[in-house]
Amino acid sequence: MSNLQKWTGILATLVIVIILPLYASLEPSQQEQLLNDYYTDAVLASTEQYAQNCAVCHGAAGEGIGDNPPLDSDAVRMMSEVDLYRVIARGRDSTLMAAWAAEEGGIFSNPQVDDFVTFIQQANWEFVEARVTDLGLTPPEVIEMEVSEEMLANLADLPGGEELSAGLLVYAESCAACHGANGAGTVIAPAIDSADLRATPKEETIQLVNSGVHGTLMAAWQNLLPPEQISSVVDLIYRWPEMVQAGFDFPEVEVMSIPSSPELIAAGDRLFNIACKSCHGADGYGTRMAPALNNQIFLAETPDAAIYQIIAGGIPGTLMPGWGSRLNDQDLQSLVAFLRSQEASAPSILPPILDQ
Ligand code: HEC
Ligand code: HEC
Ligand code: HEC
Repeated sequence: MSNLQKWTGILATLVIVIILPLYASLEPSQQEQLLNDYYTDAVLASTEQYAQNCAVCHGAAGEGIGDNPPLDSDAVRMMSEVDLYRVIARGRDSTLMAAWAAEEGGIFSNPQVDDFVTFIQQANWEFVEARVTDLGLTPPEVIEMEVSEEMLANLADLPGGEELSAGLLVYAESCAACHGANGAGTVIAPAIDSADLRATPKEETIQLVNSGVHGTLMAAWQNLLPPEQISSVVDLIYRWPEMVQAGFDFPEVEVMSIPSSPELIAAGDRLFNIACKSCHGADGYGTRMAPALNNQIFLAETPDAAIYQIIAGGIPGTLMPGWGSRLNDQDLQSLVAFLRSQEASAPSILPPILDQ
């Protein structure tokens, strides 16, 4: 028998022989007090963890940000403890909700996950918000990327225009960050306004978008978009020349060189601690949830504009969220400047292999 097992055994015996009878002998009011203390401790410990790891998606006051649902809701408080435990420990497949339990590849022990369950059922969200603010971890405001009304109106005038505008909305939201607002491609993804592509049977292209291209940033979109949206965006790709002929005014895609200054780097450092550290680790050294960014290989091989696009667009089908809808251009540039500033001192190691 290992020492640990022996001690666990002794402790369990202690609880049964001494603590339980003691607990039972207490007045009901004292019992209640003990229980309250337990809840208070769990809630306080989880508040700090919530601020560090969850507020970035679920909001400083649990109000939810963008597509990430609120936790300050009766529906969530009414969930059974088992269900709450399961979603936090294991996450939800094909969503941004990661598995947080250590045994599932996350960073929390089982008792910590238990504490989160108590926290969600009991939290005073005003207090949580105040604490998140104190810690300087309030997530940045939501800025949605939008297709202008004018663009949609112009498109709708074309024959079959409704289909085109439906496709453009999907394209703007899910594809433009990598393939470029004008379809001409970017440093990280090829042009989709391409005669070669249009010469391929449409079925094949739908298949490609559905399944993705393994090992590249092109994700399997069937996990993320309903079939009608995939079909309308592929339709748009095949009808791209119609939009060009109609003189459709695509937003310019700039070829960026990201500026750098001590202020920008400091701003990026702050933002990194709020939005990225929970997955990519302190100073970007990586965790079990996400690869190291602070390493020679990644920084030497990835130009600024590509880093910018990856952060803005996320890596669909993985835990890497798209930040373009939440951070403005200045914020995104500060993150690139911060990551780039680490290049000179970055260790020349490969990113750790994820255990999942
Ligand atoms: C990267 C964004 C992100 C982070 C960080 C995150 N979540 Fe989530 N969470 C989500 C999304 C998205 C969903 C909804 C998943 C779905 O569609 O079922 C979710 C769902 C949940 C739910 C279930 C809500 C419901 O209505 O079913 C709980 C509880 C929850 N998260 C708790 C947490 C806790 C606790 C943390 C921190 C340890 C955390 N989340 C961190 C994105 C996130
Ligand atoms: C995170 C970046 C990223 C996003 C977002 C993205 N793609 Fe891609 N896409 C790529 C990359 C990289 C490739 C090239 C894959 C390869 O090497 O074969 C690609 C390839 C493609 C191709 C094949 C192009 C060709 O000439 O063979 C199509 C079609 C395509 N993507 C459509 C889409 C659609 C539609 C969306 C939105 C629903 C989308 N992509 C979103 C990165 C992205
Ligand atoms: C919920 C966890 C999570 C958060 C939060 C997160 N990332 Fe990621 N990120 C990932 C994962 C996982 C990957 C690897 C995806 C893959 O499998 O290719 C990744 C990949 C990346 C990459 C590409 C790395 C490479 O080697 O190609 C960059 C750059 C990046 N993240 C930057 C950021 C920045 C900047 C932030 C904060 C604004 C951030 N991430 C927040 C999980 C996260």
